[in-house]
Amino acid sequence: MNPNIKKVLISEEEIVKRCRELAKDIDRDYANNPRKVLFVALLKGSVPFLSELIKRVEMDVEIDFMDVSSYDGTESIGDIKINKDLNTSVKGVDIILVEDIVDTGRTLSTVKKMLQNKGANSVKIVTLLDKPSRRIIDIKADYIGFEVENEFVVGFGLDFNQKYRNLPYVGVLKEECYK
Ligand code: IMP
Repeated sequence: MNPNIKKVLISEEEIVKRCRELAKDIDRDYANNPRKVLFVALLKGSVPFLSELIKRVEMDVEIDFMDVSSYDGTESIGDIKINKDLNTSVKGVDIILVEDIVDTGRTLSTVKKMLQNKGANSVKIVTLLDKPSRRIIDIKADYIGFEVENEFVVGFGLDFNQKYRNLPYVGVLKEECYK
């Protein structure tokens, strides 16, 4: 285990098993869907989750990526900067937004609205982790891997100062790493 990790919250085996279950749910919900299904992953944190999840999905899907961030120094709702937009048109497309964690809900609610405004037929959300105790915007993911307490977690895509994304599990950092 990485020496900076205090405890492992969710093991790699648990994540892989849960991804299989989520993929099954998605396949069931989109069975006989006549439109294109596009997984839109938010960079960078959702990459390991996206790759684990789509391997288990059996229907035909496409993938694309967006990179968004909050404007520095602002807390206001909807103020996000698009660092990388989609390469694909979303008009009439059924989108599954892929996120690593839903925290305050600001990012996802803004991106979801943006995609709806661009003419997506539907926008659903799949997230590896959900931290409902931190929610500011009332938004619910349609597919949730695991609910976590109000603790800062890293691994399986989630970072602290860009580190720990490569850990194969989700864990809690030792306090001295924040100081
Ligand atoms: P939201 O807009 O507040 O829901 O922010 C979601 C983003 O905040 C996620 O995509 C993560 O990048 C980041 N984030 C929130 N909580 C954590 C955490 O516990 N560990 C790592 N990143 C987090």
